[in-house]
Amino acid sequence: MSLKDEILRIESSFNSDSNLLKDNQITLDELKYKYLGRKGLLSNLYSLLSEIDNSQKPIIGKQINQLKINISNNIDNLVKKENKIEGQDEKIDFSLPGKKYVRGSLHPLTLIIDEIKDIFNKIGFSSIYGNEIETDYYNFESLNIPKHHPARDMQDTFYISDDVLLRTHTSSSQIHFMEENNPPVRILSPGRVYRNEDISVRSYCLFHQIEGLYVDKKVTFSDLKGTLDYFAKQFFGPKTKTRFRPSYFPFTEPSAEMDVYWGLNNESDYRITKGTGWLEILGCGMVNPAVFKAVEYDTNKWNGYAFGLGIERIAMLKYGIDDIRLLYEGDVNFLRQFR
Ligand code: DAH
Repeated sequence: MSLKDEILRIESSFNSDSNLLKDNQITLDELKYKYLGRKGLLSNLYSLLSEIDNSQKPIIGKQINQLKINISNNIDNLVKKENKIEGQDEKIDFSLPGKKYVRGSLHPLTLIIDEIKDIFNKIGFSSIYGNEIETDYYNFESLNIPKHHPARDMQDTFYISDDVLLRTHTSSSQIHFMEENNPPVRILSPGRVYRNEDISVRSYCLFHQIEGLYVDKKVTFSDLKGTLDYFAKQFFGPKTKTRFRPSYFPFTEPSAEMDVYWGLNNESDYRITKGTGWLEILGCGMVNPAVFKAVEYDTNKWNGYAFGLGIERIAMLKYGIDDIRLLYEGDVNFLRQFR
């Protein structure tokens, strides 16, 4: 057999050998050793080169070189392919446990505040934020609650100094807003308030309120009732019944409390409505002219209404939470339920 034929034979044998790889009848190492090894078929070809005619050597030599390059490239590609398959196998190891990504959730109080803000935004109220640390003036005096007024006893206050305190209600943000803005006014002001109360299932030393303030010309008590009734129907459902009971707040005159009809369908309804079926959800009234005087609004021209809603109460009703303290503990097992 001529050397030329031998080259062709080795070429075709390499092709059929690399097919054997697929059935694992030969390994890549064996293939490499058989053709490119020190005693392999290629090196044997080179030794045969010395035996042929000198004039043929450059031509045949070139062919053997080319064959060697082809086989090396082929083997390199096969090695790459094998590594890739191994890598893929690792990626789809179904026995590995998956990665868990924990999704956060909004706090139930935030959910309620957002929902109430949405309802009032639709009728033109925008949100503002007041200060949690206040002076006596903003929390009491300007709201027509002078020193030694018995109404101060309604709100057990955390004092920081004689004059500085943690706000006991969001009503103080009304004053800040009116000092800085001219009427008309349509604002909501959500936020934390603080009271020095014994901690129990029903009460905590801090809680949340949303304050509402509406100032315009010729505002009537019917406007107040209509707006709050709209809110109750949006929030609790279109058939919700409301009622207004006369009440007292120094910063409004007349003042009222609004109840929604909760029903008396089960034992828990009796407990939370104290057997009446009605549930108080907010305080409200027509802004007392004394408050307008404090912020220098012209009481001959402007009047308005205000209201204050307790958020915890509503959140507990809506989500059936029976211990207020759950709202402040940050227990993820509790919070996870609001995703
Ligand atoms: N500030 C009152 C409270 O904390 C709630 C309230 C009642 C706010 C009547 C008002 C209002 O704006 O008009 O008990």
